[in-house]
Amino acid sequence: MMLTFDNVEFHYPNQPVFRNLNLELNYGEFTFVIGKSGIGKSTLMQLVYLNLFPISGTVKIAEFDSQTIKSSQIPLLRRKIGVIFQDFKLLPDRNVFQNLAYVLKVTNSSSKDMKKKINDVLNEVGLFHKRFNKPDELSGGEQQRVAIARAIINDPILVLADEPTGNLDPETSGEILALLKKINKQGTAVLVVTHNYELVKKANERIIKLDDGRAMKAVIKQKTEI
Ligand SMILES: Nc1ncnc2c1ncn2[C@@H]1O[C@H](COP(=O)(O)OP(=O)(O)O)[C@@H](O)[C@H]1O
Ligand SMILES: [Mg+2]
Repeated sequence: MMLTFDNVEFHYPNQPVFRNLNLELNYGEFTFVIGKSGIGKSTLMQLVYLNLFPISGTVKIAEFDSQTIKSSQIPLLRRKIGVIFQDFKLLPDRNVFQNLAYVLKVTNSSSKDMKKKINDVLNEVGLFHKRFNKPDELSGGEQQRVAIARAIINDPILVLADEPTGNLDPETSGEILALLKKINKQGTAVLVVTHNYELVKKANERIIKLDDGRAMKAVIKQKTEI
């Protein structure tokens, strides 16, 4: 398994979220996590990249384990995970190329390698021609493509997408989902968290449903053939 939640309990100071949460994701797998607003989807994402830690139970990802990981290893873990958000979270004062260069800087690549990597991912998401535009000169769908390029540029084992189509119209949402599927076909596991059931229904991929009743129940796992 690439990712395992083993009896995970999590709560905020005055807000229970998960109790006995179990789930598994294999290398190369595509999975949706669905559930209504406030159920804990964004919390789940943060538990994966260890922005939050379980109160009890364990999150395991690749060779890392939430119970034993050292703080010095957390950047290594995060480099294996690309994250995409509903609101894109691009740097507004930098163009597309610079937004991507920003995440490569931490890895000490040479400038020639950086340029090649950036151009490659921009071709991958179909935005090479917009490389010198700033985020506010792009449509929402284009901004999300840049965010996807940023998420995959360090060759992650997993892409986490938190409501990636939440700000997009249905057609653009379909295109973003198709791009995530293409990335998955190339071998990267993808976990998409969403309350957009319409999108999920069309996709014919594995679904994990966070059950109603919040933390009081564990997750229902189901494989759909819709
Ligand atoms: N930092 C926080 N402190 C306290 N409660 C929070 C915090 N973040 C989220 N919550 C609460 O935890 C629950 C789960 O939130 P979240 O994971 O954001 O849900 P979702 O992404 O499914 O909408 C909600 O009730 C939310 O209000
Ligand atoms: Mg959320």
